[in-house]
Amino acid sequence: MLIERYLSDPKPVLWRGGFQAKAGETARKTVARCYPHLIAARRQSYAALAHAIEPAWVSDHLCWGSAHGIYAHDLLPVAYTEESLAHVARRVQAVQERLGRRMLLENPSTYMQLAGNEMSEWDFLGELARRADCGILLDVNNVFVSAHNHGFDARDYLGALPPERIGQIHLAGHSCDGDLLIDTHDNQVCDEVWTLYADTIAAIGARATMIEWDAQVPAFDVLKGELARAAEWGARGLARRGEPRPPRKGRRDAA
Ligand SMILES: [Fe+2]
Repeated sequence: MLIERYLSDPKPVLWRGGFQAKAGETARKTVARCYPHLIAARRQSYAALAHAIEPAWVSDHLCWGSAHGIYAHDLLPVAYTEESLAHVARRVQAVQERLGRRMLLENPSTYMQLAGNEMSEWDFLGELARRADCGILLDVNNVFVSAHNHGFDARDYLGALPPERIGQIHLAGHSCDGDLLIDTHDNQVCDEVWTLYADTIAAIGARATMIEWDAQVPAFDVLKGELARAAEWGARGLARRGEPRPPRKGRRDAA
């Protein structure tokens, strides 16, 4: 539905003039042919934006979304193989070189796994960070959701990531759909995720932390309450390290 809506009304700003339909060509074929231009234009836009605003982090998910002219508009799970590790590492390095800064790669929440995986997601992400010399954006809720959906232990995941590579943490609420947990960002963070968060801070130390809540957004006081809980759970983790709660550096920092 989203792709059909887009194809019926392509946005020239996004394409930077790279979307030029040929006579008799379907819109879908035009997108497939012009896709490299979109990628180049997007990279150029990201670089200009990063240069202008000097963000603390530039991040993207460890995922893919299109192949052979078909666009999923979703965060699909990567094949955790040596071949795709080399491919993704090259892509991350290319983006970092273009941006002139290090990226953070975020673990996605997933609902299926590709056949033929040769390693776990956490081994893949950790090795990617080392090979591409990038950082990790650790979404603790995504770890919890994927652990439930695929039957692994979230603590195996969290304990295997290289702590020095973790630049930021995300927390969010999720919802249930039958046996699956879905990363809907429309709810309060659950107790199990708070516990995992405190364990993570206890293991790696304080990290800037963001609450993601972008559907069924509640009253501002509820959001502020979640931020306060993040600070509280983060402080519990730090106390286990014998460290005091850090001063807040910015409005987004919770731990
Ligand atoms: Fe996230």
